Amino acid sequence: AFKFIIIAVISYLLGSLNFGVILSRGMKNEDVRESGSGNAGTTNMMRTYGKTLGLLTIAGDILKVIIAIWLAFRIVSVEELKMTLDSASDYPQVVLKSFAGLFAVLGHIFPCYFKFKGGKGVATSGGMVIAIDWRIALILLAIFALTILITKYVSLGSILMAIFYPVFIGIFYKDIILVLIALVFTVIIVVAHRENVKRLINHTENKIGSKKKKKE
Ligand code: G3P
Repeated sequence: AFKFIIIAVISYLLGSLNFGVILSRGMKNEDVRESGSGNAGTTNMMRTYGKTLGLLTIAGDILKVIIAIWLAFRIVSVEELKMTLDSASDYPQVVLKSFAGLFAVLGHIFPCYFKFKGGKGVATSGGMVIAIDWRIALILLAIFALTILITKYVSLGSILMAIFYPVFIGIFYKDIILVLIALVFTVIIVVAHRENVKRLINHTENKIGSKKKKKE
């Protein structure tokens, strides 16, 4: 159990490195949380500062979870994991990736270095999905891209990815434990998007490509 606590703490500390905040402060001497939607994530970085900083943000937020997952496997071996879980799932490696991923996502949303106000966990969860299964990552990316192309709402794309994630975990792995774990991420991301959901319902959500404006 001690090793799992270590993994959780390391993942949380890595996840807390919110690249939206880091890059906006470091490169622009501002805080992205005071612009646009107030969110410290790729979408709002792009909205506020353009493509380059947006892409650097998503790269950093994806990379940190991949590093967290890589470190998790240096701390616990798959054999050890199988014994600990006692075959609760047929896919112990996916369980460990999700475990490290979960704490990285929580760190991203509630970063300890930045007053616990971070992003919505989409890029970070996406990095975890890439580490878990690139096929699912590609399918979700297609759903995301198609949604944005049709509706121009990034948040709706994020929410749909979150909803379809457990569906495809179920299809590819046929393992109820993994589906339940995947559902945890669905809940986190949908809850993180609660303000976006309200705006979507009221037709006041930001569309991609619309002009940046300072946060009211
Ligand atoms: O990943 C966050 C995105 O889904 C919505 O971002 O800034 O429009 O709230 P934002």
